[in-house]
Amino acid sequence: MFSARSILNTAQRRAFSVSAQQNFKVTVLGAAGGIGQPLSLLMKTNKLVTDLALYDIRGAPGVAADISHINTKSSVNGYAPSPEGLKSALSGAEVVLIPAGVPRKPGMSRDDLFNTNASIVRDLAKAAADFAPKAKILIISNPVNSTVPITAEVFKSKGVYDPKRLFGVTTLDIVRASRFISEIKSTDPANEAVTVIGGHSGVTIVPLLSQSNHSEISGEARDKLVNRIQFGGDEVVQAKEGAGSATLSMAYAGARMADSILRAANGEKNVVECTFVESPLYKDQGIDFFSSKVTLGPEGVAKIHEVGKVNEYEQGLLDACIADLAKNITKGQKFVKENP
Ligand code: 2OP
Repeated sequence: MFSARSILNTAQRRAFSVSAQQNFKVTVLGAAGGIGQPLSLLMKTNKLVTDLALYDIRGAPGVAADISHINTKSSVNGYAPSPEGLKSALSGAEVVLIPAGVPRKPGMSRDDLFNTNASIVRDLAKAAADFAPKAKILIISNPVNSTVPITAEVFKSKGVYDPKRLFGVTTLDIVRASRFISEIKSTDPANEAVTVIGGHSGVTIVPLLSQSNHSEISGEARDKLVNRIQFGGDEVVQAKEGAGSATLSMAYAGARMADSILRAANGEKNVVECTFVESPLYKDQGIDFFSSKVTLGPEGVAKIHEVGKVNEYEQGLLDACIADLAKNITKGQKFVKENP
């Protein structure tokens, strides 16, 4: 007996696997916050999502009731804090997005958030490890360079760590890079793909302009552009005058990353994003996690791409990145060992 599927040719099979949509539950932990609300809204508009679960320490049921009136097919449930609430929110999730935590105020670095956000992420990671050990976990809470290693340590301590399923969301750096370069060149940002590698904080953000459409940008113009990509988050923190950091653009970036993960889970091929994952690229320099281009597949990470050719200027940026990143990663790992 042949199944309908087995008599299809390769092209037909690919189309079949993309169009035969699976059911995907997406959970947002920190759904009532500045990033969580617009992120939840965007996930409600995502056609691949069939079940949206919103959790926060307060306000998630209200956000869920509001979003649930939007006429897309996914069901929406909001959960208040209780062990049962977290369990229901997480069980069966394909993707868990974690934007929970406090944002920066003017003058703060992302690392200054460590003391507050490290324990928030650790506790949510424990719940995710218990109730959604197979989910793809997307960490947005800052400092991402440390909160991703924190999550990895928690999953390891519970014996469920799969490096293919843990992602730090650095997509906003890519979004900013393509927007900022398009402003200089008066082009459509949709056509400006800039690879941004490293981490998600200041000098750990390394844009590779030499691999973009505009490798000719040099001198002062290049320095200004690179600095703006590295410190773009500060522009928002300053403009918000103490009311927080990027929420709307961050939600947009988080939703793009979640969509890429879901499309790959649904069988789409060649889905590539830059993302902060456990990576072999700089392990010999003591760096366990690094953001580079990653091909996504049904199980999460399918292939980590090499950094490729960089020029001398970019090598300088990379050296500075590695030094900072090493400290950020170790800080997260140490935190979980000392505060399990
Ligand atoms: C940013 O890059 C909030 O980390 C976020 O602005």
